[in-house]
Amino acid sequence: MKFLDEIKKLKKHKKAIILAHNYQTLDVQEVADFVGDSLQLSQEAARVEAEIIVFCGVRFMAETAKLLKPNAKVLLSSKNAGCPMADMITGEQLREFKKQYNNPIVVCYVNSTVEVKAESDICCTSGNAIKIINSIPQEKTILFVPDQNLGTFSAQKTGRNVIVWDGYCNVHHHFITKDNVIKIRKEYPDYALLVHPECKPEVFNQADLVCSTKGMADYVKEHDKVIIGTEVGLFEQLKAKFPEKKLVPLSEKAICINMKKTTLNDVYLTLKNENNEIILDDDIMKNAVKSIDRMLELS
Ligand code: 13P
Ligand code: SF4
Repeated sequence: MKFLDEIKKLKKHKKAIILAHNYQTLDVQEVADFVGDSLQLSQEAARVEAEIIVFCGVRFMAETAKLLKPNAKVLLSSKNAGCPMADMITGEQLREFKKQYNNPIVVCYVNSTVEVKAESDICCTSGNAIKIINSIPQEKTILFVPDQNLGTFSAQKTGRNVIVWDGYCNVHHHFITKDNVIKIRKEYPDYALLVHPECKPEVFNQADLVCSTKGMADYVKEHDKVIIGTEVGLFEQLKAKFPEKKLVPLSEKAICINMKKTTLNDVYLTLKNENNEIILDDDIMKNAVKSIDRMLELS
């Protein structure tokens, strides 16, 4: 295939690496050096030695890589790939939210803007939210932004009182429903139901396991007969990796259009032309990286 060879050559020549999220299309996942969930991708960005990082995912993920590797050129393979949930709270709104409480601890989901990260105490992902909440002293008031569902799930699991912002992921909140659960449980009664914590409580409370996309991939390695309750990209990846296993998506409508914006052609052109570079304000970066570093220390 034309792109594959060209991408390989360019990667070597430019000392570049390609990171891709689990929701990317399969052809994009195939050219990546590393594919994973948000936590794994930030850990990988912090670890790698590369002059150029091409990020196949959405903007906040590439920004996180830039925060962790400020001297690398971080390129977002599709310029317009954003995460609508990340834009559901601004830095200004968070400052106002904090003022309503006495010295709260702000936990921000990594699906957030750099400005919001800079206003937060500690960051988290769907893979470590419980650990992060548990690390906060009991007497502290906890504010969680922007995802109401991950915030609520973490509160339930830790028994802590967590005050949540009312953001949500359209894909998980609206396109994975209680009715999907009722229907699939009837059709596949002996399958395990795995659900992402960005789903509503009425969905995640019915699951056998609530976890990040990596948690789901790990589970499928060891088990058969699994219902995958997240964006369909992960189901497609697992189906391709384990064709002999019985896997079904909880909802075929759970498609993140932003994650699907990146094509192989975009990856090739981004690497070739070194465009769509992530440029962040120095002062904001200094504060934002602290919340990510605190998270990685605990992970
Ligand atoms: P994961 O970190 O579980 O891969 O989730 C990222 C995301 O954007 C989910 O919608
Ligand atoms: Fe954002 Fe939802 Fe897409 Fe994840 S699936 S990137 S949370 S819109």
